[in-house]
Amino acid sequence: MGSITIRNTIASDLPLLPALETAAYEPFRAIGMADFANRQPPTLEELAAYHDTGHAWVAAVSEDEADSGTPIAFVLVYVVNNDGLGWKSAFIHEISVSPEYARRGIGKTLIDHVASWAQQNGLRALDLATYVNVLWCKPYFERLGFRVVDEEELLMNEYSGVRRLIMCEWHDELLGRWRRVAMRKFL
Ligand SMILES: CC(C)(COP(=O)(O)OP(=O)(O)OC[C@H]1O[C@@H](n2cnc3c(N)ncnc32)[C@H](O)[C@@H]1OP(=O)(O)O)[C@@H](O)C(=O)NCCC(=O)NCCS
Repeated sequence: MGSITIRNTIASDLPLLPALETAAYEPFRAIGMADFANRQPPTLEELAAYHDTGHAWVAAVSEDEADSGTPIAFVLVYVVNNDGLGWKSAFIHEISVSPEYARRGIGKTLIDHVASWAQQNGLRALDLATYVNVLWCKPYFERLGFRVVDEEELLMNEYSGVRRLIMCEWHDELLGRWRRVAMRKFL
């Protein structure tokens, strides 16, 4: 295996990410979530929106230092202004690691990288939405320091951005079919 680096996306990464996502979500098929595994990966336009704002990172494997490497994992983030007054967090819209490279700490390294970036940019937390029933979702993020945002907290100002997002997902015909919770890790 070559060396793995975490870096912002470059334009030539983007066409490679939809297939990477489809492969990463394959394990959902075996746990009765085939419709979720079958959903459309992000389009190039959606990926470009994250790329253009500098909110997309990849783990890339390369054989020599001069090479920018091939993406084997990625994370997409957007900044949420929770109370409209500057209580900002980074919402992890998606994280995917190629199954070939799974369980080697790459997911954790990507999340740590986003956490450092968020701290440097004055953001106060990392947020995400995930499934309660899936072994590599909620328990995994708990081990990385996230905790579930309970219903009372969701009503508070500093959670208003993440509340809007999770409510959209609860009402989404596909995503809302399995129990989904918001999680936050304070920085
Ligand atoms: C979740 C994900 C990002 C983790 O990335 P990763 O690089 O494999 O994770 P790490 O190496 O940092 O941590 C590994 C831990 O994740 C958990 N995990 C990952 N895949 C798992 C699986 N298929 N079954 C059970 N646990 C799993 C385990 O706790 C594992 O620890 P262990 O190997 O000591 O048992 C990756 O599995 C992935 O891309 N999954 C598909 C997409 C996804 O589910 N995204 C989250 C949506 S809610």
